[in-house]
Amino acid sequence: MNKKSLNTAARDHLWMHFTRMSAYAKAPIPMIVRGEGAYVFDLNGKRYLDGLSGLFVVQAGHGRHELADAAAKQASELAYFPLWSYAHPKAVELADRLADLAPGDLNRIFFTTSGSEAVESAWKLARSYFKRVGKPAKHKVISRHIAYHGTSMGALSITGLPSIKEDFEPLVPSGIRVPNTNLYRAPNGTAGADGSDAEAFGRWAADRIAEAIEFEGPDTVAAVFLEPVQNSGGCFPPPPGYFQRVREICDEYDVLLVSDEVICAFGRLGEYFGATRYGYQPDIITCAKGMTSGYVPLGAMIASDRLAAPFLKDTNWFAHGVTFGGHPVASAVALANLDIFSREDLNGHVKKNEAIFRSYLDRLRDLPIVGDVRGDGYFYGIELVKDKATKATFDDDECERLLRGFLSKALFDGGLYCRADDRGDPVVQLAPPLICEEAHFAEIEQILRSVLSEAWSHV
Ligand SMILES: Cc1ncc(COP(=O)(O)O)c(C=O)c1O
Repeated sequence: MNKKSLNTAARDHLWMHFTRMSAYAKAPIPMIVRGEGAYVFDLNGKRYLDGLSGLFVVQAGHGRHELADAAAKQASELAYFPLWSYAHPKAVELADRLADLAPGDLNRIFFTTSGSEAVESAWKLARSYFKRVGKPAKHKVISRHIAYHGTSMGALSITGLPSIKEDFEPLVPSGIRVPNTNLYRAPNGTAGADGSDAEAFGRWAADRIAEAIEFEGPDTVAAVFLEPVQNSGGCFPPPPGYFQRVREICDEYDVLLVSDEVICAFGRLGEYFGATRYGYQPDIITCAKGMTSGYVPLGAMIASDRLAAPFLKDTNWFAHGVTFGGHPVASAVALANLDIFSREDLNGHVKKNEAIFRSYLDRLRDLPIVGDVRGDGYFYGIELVKDKATKATFDDDECERLLRGFLSKALFDGGLYCRADDRGDPVVQLAPPLICEEAHFAEIEQILRSVLSEAWSHV
């Protein structure tokens, strides 16, 4: 198809995800046709720095022929076979490798095709497990304000973003919300609310989980779903001691700790798993996105030996599955992707460079619109404010004008693909491919500086 007919066909037939399609009624739809390293190219040949790794996905960078070759080789050898009572070598090898990389006794891998399916599977496992060990009333799940955990009905019920839920209510009952670890906007009167004592704030936030379990009744609560660094709201890292306190609470009440690492796994934080970075032991890890660097879709729920045990005996089974879970081609690509991780030491690269990345973003704090810069690894949020001293944020109209009307497009026009998000307070999110180095950070800073300076005049 030529450029014109591609645009027309997209406008007429493509249903874009989480997109106000009317925005493209007259304007052309940005069409990305090629990727190379940290860059992508549009239909007109214009180059953009991929500041979001697609959607927190393309860890090893674009244009890796070895991943394409692994897919082609596997597709010609065995394109498809299910994991329903049968196995194939690539899924087995990948499960073995993930069990080695995952912390502690997380040794049992249930493959899915997406993050939502992984989260959905984790909730189903939690419910099913407690039925099998004689605690059948344990079924509720706790998650944090503004956290995103996916869009299928179960995962959406765990998600803490009212704006993407209200169209679909009533959802699966029994999702309960607790505060997140947004230290910048810690509620007045809470320990560490002035930002001076992150540990006290973390303790306060973790204790809200214990409180919620008590309110609901410990016999009814099955699991807590937490991201190592919460994405929605703009990168909330855990305060020191937060996850250690959550672990204690989960042990005390026999509630499962699910580390939702759909974004944070596979090098985003400089480790294969975010739980390793922050030194806590989950009962389940959910992951997807970066496992294949996005060359094909694949997700997984990784469960502990304790959780798998009841399903390994007698006539018991986990009554759950998806056709494409652990697809041979996806598994082969994931293995090739993990080969790149170890050969190029991508985790070490992130750890070596994260402070440099952060220092470039921190320079933006001199702009009047930049209220906070936060994150870890190659994963940052920049919160935009109307007034730095009071931390006053933008109202809905201003967000509309600033983020949708100006910022997203201006950044893209400036050559930086990233995300301006106002599902919580307005933030710009950055999560570039893990191969990025100082020259890329400098480019990101320079484009952000120029666009955010101009944005101030639109306030
Ligand atoms: C933490 C988290 N969980 C779950 C999901 C859902 O993943 P998917 O879009 O692959 O279904 C996402 C997607 O961004 C996510 O960030």
